[in-house]
Amino acid sequence: MKIKYLGHACLQIETMGKTIIVDPFISQNPLAKDRIKIKELKADYLLITHGHADHVLDVELIAEQNKEVQLISNPEIGQWFSNKGLGGIQLNHGGAISLEFGELKMVYATHSSGLPDGSYGGNPAGFVLSNEEGTIYIAGDTALTKEMELIPLFAPNLDLAIFPIGNHFTMGYEDAVIASDFVQCDKVLGIHYDTFSLIEINTKEAVEHFKQKGKELILLEIEQSITL
Ligand code: NI
Ligand code: MN
Repeated sequence: MKIKYLGHACLQIETMGKTIIVDPFISQNPLAKDRIKIKELKADYLLITHGHADHVLDVELIAEQNKEVQLISNPEIGQWFSNKGLGGIQLNHGGAISLEFGELKMVYATHSSGLPDGSYGGNPAGFVLSNEEGTIYIAGDTALTKEMELIPLFAPNLDLAIFPIGNHFTMGYEDAVIASDFVQCDKVLGIHYDTFSLIEINTKEAVEHFKQKGKELILLEIEQSITL
């Protein structure tokens, strides 16, 4: 499983021969827009955690050059995009499905989820993705929440937890350390930081803070990847 960081909360995951883009927000991301050729991005699936613009902005742009792309989201976001002609799979909290790239379960996140035009965006969510190549937890935008303690009950051997660490709109890196205890995974990929001034963090301190707790915080450059 190869996970490429496309800035902010956007990831391109290549696994089991399929390509999944999570939360596309590139064309207005000041750190990513000049580096990533959005018109050349490939995706078989678009995985959406919630309705905020910094997670759904480029869904249609990516769908334009990926005609067969399937949107995976909650029903409210799914309906909103279906009205724009985009098809997909609608899930809600606790729902697990088997897809060609593995098992996918939508899990709880505590945040909000309005769509860019003010429409109701349903509940924010995270995902647990599991297949022969590994098991990862994509937390989505969320605060630290006790609900995360449920994840090891059905995903006891996480290979990677992907957490927002930018504070202000989500948990910060100190809470992300506690979250990594809750999900029993000491290897964390940090996202959702430094994109704009409100979520700027001291990345050196963040990495050091994880280290002191015996954990690893991975921070990627835009377009850099990790492989599980
Ligand atoms: Ni959000
Ligand atoms: Mn966000």
